[in-house]
Amino acid sequence: MAHRPDLALPTSPFPAYVVSRRGSGVTGGVTALELADLPDGDTLVRVDWSAVNYKDGMVTRPGNRVARADVLVPGVDGAGTVVDSAVVAPGTEVVVHGYDVGVARHGAFARYLRVPGSWVVPLPDGLSTRHAALIGTAGFTAALSARRLAQGGVAPDDGPVLVTGASGGVGSMAVALLARHGYDVVASTGKTDEHEYLRALGASSVVGRDLVEQPERVLGPERWAGAVDCVGGTVLAAVLRSVRYGGVVAASGLTGGSELSTTVYPFIVRAVSLVGIDTVQTPIDERIAVWSDLAEAFDDATLEAMVADEVGLTGLPDALAAILAGGVRGRVLVSPDW
Ligand SMILES: NC(=O)c1ccc[n+]([C@@H]2O[C@H](COP(=O)([O-])OP(=O)(O)OC[C@H]3O[C@@H](n4cnc5c(N)ncnc54)[C@H](OP(=O)(O)O)[C@@H]3O)[C@@H](O)[C@H]2O)c1
Repeated sequence: MAHRPDLALPTSPFPAYVVSRRGSGVTGGVTALELADLPDGDTLVRVDWSAVNYKDGMVTRPGNRVARADVLVPGVDGAGTVVDSAVVAPGTEVVVHGYDVGVARHGAFARYLRVPGSWVVPLPDGLSTRHAALIGTAGFTAALSARRLAQGGVAPDDGPVLVTGASGGVGSMAVALLARHGYDVVASTGKTDEHEYLRALGASSVVGRDLVEQPERVLGPERWAGAVDCVGGTVLAAVLRSVRYGGVVAASGLTGGSELSTTVYPFIVRAVSLVGIDTVQTPIDERIAVWSDLAEAFDDATLEAMVADEVGLTGLPDALAAILAGGVRGRVLVSPDW
């Protein structure tokens, strides 16, 4: 390999966004770290891009139970180049997400990320580090959800599939991915000004969040062949009431609440399946297979349309507050610069 100065080990401190839990409060700011500050691991990655996920916002909330370290670099998604590793060839471009990254050990809101080599996924041909971070956990969650729908027998010609929280990261990715696979996608959003955006991603129609929520009915009209839900709470309960006989609901999130109040009727009268989605512990073989699918799933224009903003580390406080407030459309890319 030709000498690449960007792949030399850093000899000076590098930028990182660090949050600290003190008593009941959480503070955050950009600071300088050295390699010695990073956790153990046999693989050092120079991060080109990260992206903001709802979970990154959650670790900045006072009293949260997501962060499992008092001092933490958040950032559950990182894409970059291996600088030093016992198991992955230096120079390999990789994506890293999930496991303990950004919750129990320093994550990707820093120029360097150190992890076990068994956690990294080499980028499939043609996928840039920018687009890998843009897809990130959100796209991976969407792809895993789409897989579970297909494995549960929901086919594109079975009828409309619903995506909730559609303008957010997981939702945007799910709309685009399912549409690309030929599904008739109905997007549910609370943002009245994002209907055009969702149609441009491939939704055949867009409904308001209030149209999805229909309280106080045990079972509603059979509307959806399947659903990708990242909202939870009353939205998920309403989705379950309106899925067709034999349909599948893939549940991944809790932006609308972590409680689920339902009856057994969707399950025992309509044979609906509720499938849980976890992307943190997805075994590496399925991770690699999903990333291989993801590399083919989007054209560049569709991906770039999902970029809400690009920020450096100093832009993170605003970006994290915005995602917690449910106000982000698509994905915010993070360049780990001073
Ligand atoms: N299980 C896993 O492995 C996994 C992986 C990734 C993410 N997640 C979870 O999935 C969820 C979405 O993550 P994300 O990164 O895509 O977040 P995001 O970008 O903030 O998207 C979430 C969307 O949910 C909707 N929403 C927000 N607040 C709401 C409320 N109070 N009631 C109803 N809908 C609300 C909004 O969409 P609209 O305005 O369009 O309705 C928002 O854009 C989070 O709970 C996250 O923790 C889980």
